[in-house]
Amino acid sequence: MAQLWGGRFTKETDASVKAFNDSLRFDSRLYHEDIEGSIAHASMLGRQGIISAEEADTIINGLGVILSEIESGDLVFTDEYEDIHSFVEANLIERIGDAGKKLHTGRSRNDQVALDMRLYTRRQIDLMHSELKDLLQVILDIMEKNTETFMPGFTHLQKAQPVTLAHHFGAYFEMFRRDLLRLEDCRERMNYCPLGSGALAGTTYPLDRDYTARELGFYGPTLNSMDSVSDRDYVIEFLSDLSLIMMHLSRFSEELIIWNSNEYRFVEMDDAFSTGSSIMPQKKNPDICELVRGKTGRVYGDLFSLMTTMKGLPLAYNKDMQEDKEPAFDAIDTAHACVKLFAGMLSTLSFRKDVMEKSAARGFTNATDAADYLVVRGVPFRDAHGIIGRVVLYCIEEGRSIEELSLEELKSFSEAFGEDIYEAVSLKTCVDKRLTVGGPAPEVMKAVIENRKEWLATV
Ligand code: ARG
Repeated sequence: MAQLWGGRFTKETDASVKAFNDSLRFDSRLYHEDIEGSIAHASMLGRQGIISAEEADTIINGLGVILSEIESGDLVFTDEYEDIHSFVEANLIERIGDAGKKLHTGRSRNDQVALDMRLYTRRQIDLMHSELKDLLQVILDIMEKNTETFMPGFTHLQKAQPVTLAHHFGAYFEMFRRDLLRLEDCRERMNYCPLGSGALAGTTYPLDRDYTARELGFYGPTLNSMDSVSDRDYVIEFLSDLSLIMMHLSRFSEELIIWNSNEYRFVEMDDAFSTGSSIMPQKKNPDICELVRGKTGRVYGDLFSLMTTMKGLPLAYNKDMQEDKEPAFDAIDTAHACVKLFAGMLSTLSFRKDVMEKSAARGFTNATDAADYLVVRGVPFRDAHGIIGRVVLYCIEEGRSIEELSLEELKSFSEAFGEDIYEAVSLKTCVDKRLTVGGPAPEVMKAVIENRKEWLATV
């Protein structure tokens, strides 16, 4: 009998009900956490004299065997079992007999599943933390090599002022850095152990919750048993952190799709990270970026699915909460895949620096600097703005850029123009002079890179 609760029933569960109720097909992935938690629980039961030391040892050994058999593929998940908890317990009893029947003393599947989800979430936070760190390293490497790669900065997707590739990528570095810090914050808050909360109201056995919490790497036990078995805030927090990561990846993807377009040609995607068309032989598509952008919606959906599941639940455990797993696993799998692929794609991306630079030099990205030049020569900013506006209009009609006008032509707009205007509006000057903290000037950017490099080495 694979089910744990037959005693008070006189009929078999209807097959359709069993299929509807069972969760093994998706919660089997919690096997490691489930066994880890059970080992800590059994060890605590033995130490507290709730079961004998020999029984505890027999249980712990049996659980170890089950773990290695699952990992070697000798023990497979079959759908006669309801969930991962029943699967492990039934297999334990099958292997070690009566001692196995004592494992669940002072425990409920409610605190058990709460523990499994917490252990699993914590592990996934740590994994995502290290994947984000790798992504940040890739971005930082690109930044270091490109503090003098000029490109246009955009507002409204219109050329605005010149920046550098390092500066543009630096913006994404900041986003993913915040994401990484958010993960650390989420981990801090969730790292308390629900095991020992029982079904909802603790137990009458003398459990040592501090011991199990410590054994499982938590700061300590949670302090309200009803909350402990019905709290999934940490999953929601993690999924919202993942949603932000996806949002950043999606914005980045959108830019790379634009940069990779025939019109921009700022970047060339590596063949290994692009795909072709079944009909148009000339095509090389940025599918990774498009999929990442597309999958962002899916992760948001997972987050909202879980928030909606939780919103009407009375205390304490309700079976609705079994619905936390599929969206959580889907969001987690999706985000891992996206972050890893994105890092690979970025590290093989080549930049057409000449195209970027040419683009930065066209489109009047130096118009602000031309106005600032006049300001230095005593023209009030509002007047300077108007003068350069008229210069730009003239240039558009002529199909020329500001620096292509002769000094005579410029002087016809304002007597304040002098020979040094050309130097003042050159691309290099425009970038080099943007020395504001957080600005694109190579000098400033190098200091920021140094700062972030030191930080990255500490995470
Ligand atoms: N499969 C269940 C879940 O994922 C385990 C907890 C079951 N508890 C219960 N009282 N039925 O939430």
